[in-house]
Amino acid sequence: MVEIRLPANSRTREGKTYPAPQNAVNTREFKVYRWSPDDEENPTIDTYVLDLDKVGPMVLDALLYIKDHVDETLTFRRSCREGICGSCAMNIDGENTLACLKPIDSIKDEVKISPLPHMPVVKDLVSNLNGAYAQLNAIQPWLKSDTPPPPDEERRQSIEEREKLDGMWECILCFCCTTSCPSYWWNGDKYLGPATLLAANRWIVDSRDDHTAERLDALQDPMSLYACRTIMNCTQTCPKGLNPAKAIANIKKMQIDRG
Ligand code: SF4
Ligand code: SF4
Ligand code: FES
Repeated sequence: MVEIRLPANSRTREGKTYPAPQNAVNTREFKVYRWSPDDEENPTIDTYVLDLDKVGPMVLDALLYIKDHVDETLTFRRSCREGICGSCAMNIDGENTLACLKPIDSIKDEVKISPLPHMPVVKDLVSNLNGAYAQLNAIQPWLKSDTPPPPDEERRQSIEEREKLDGMWECILCFCCTTSCPSYWWNGDKYLGPATLLAANRWIVDSRDDHTAERLDALQDPMSLYACRTIMNCTQTCPKGLNPAKAIANIKKMQIDRG
């Protein structure tokens, strides 16, 4: 597990404590980052002591329990509850991951929960990902072909061509990788980050796309691609087991190969 330290923030202070229900035996503390645009005491770490006998097994279950039974003001994103939508990405116990896939039992002692690091916060655990999505949009993540598809037929690929997309089509755009990357922390305005570069590679290697040269040209400047220093946080933290660092290395190799 890669531990990602959140930036020290001297203004973060202890917030409210919500004690365990009476007679609870199997209890656990959840320390949750709180920030609201309407609160001058920001940011705080609130402590929720939960009875684990009443909560489902995953960290997202604990957050939902808090929202439903303890503190309805707690704000976070979630949708699918099964690691598909990417909405519940956050930093749990020092690791960027998906709350719906993170078992509470895998964490010793208190459970520390913060938003994805180094991104602006909208409220509590909700990061503002507008910048990351704008970067994704900039690489034009869709099939670009100048030839029309065969009539009444899909654009076909060989088994080998299709296999080249494995390890990339599975990306759920949770941005756990991008927000774990030190190069992105310091140069997120110029460096595209691992999630977007994985998507770029997905279209660069797609046999049906014939804008490969144009896509590579767009990544030739010193920062968009080359700010990656192969630190590998991205690959270590990806909750889907993908390897964005390998995808980035492939784009760099293709840049070298074409001279
Ligand atoms: S390998 Fe590159 S993209 Fe991945 S964490 Fe390191 S610098 Fe960031
Ligand atoms: S590569 Fe992994 S961590 Fe990065 S956005 Fe895709 S699924 Fe999330
Ligand atoms: S709720 Fe969809 S990935 Fe966690």
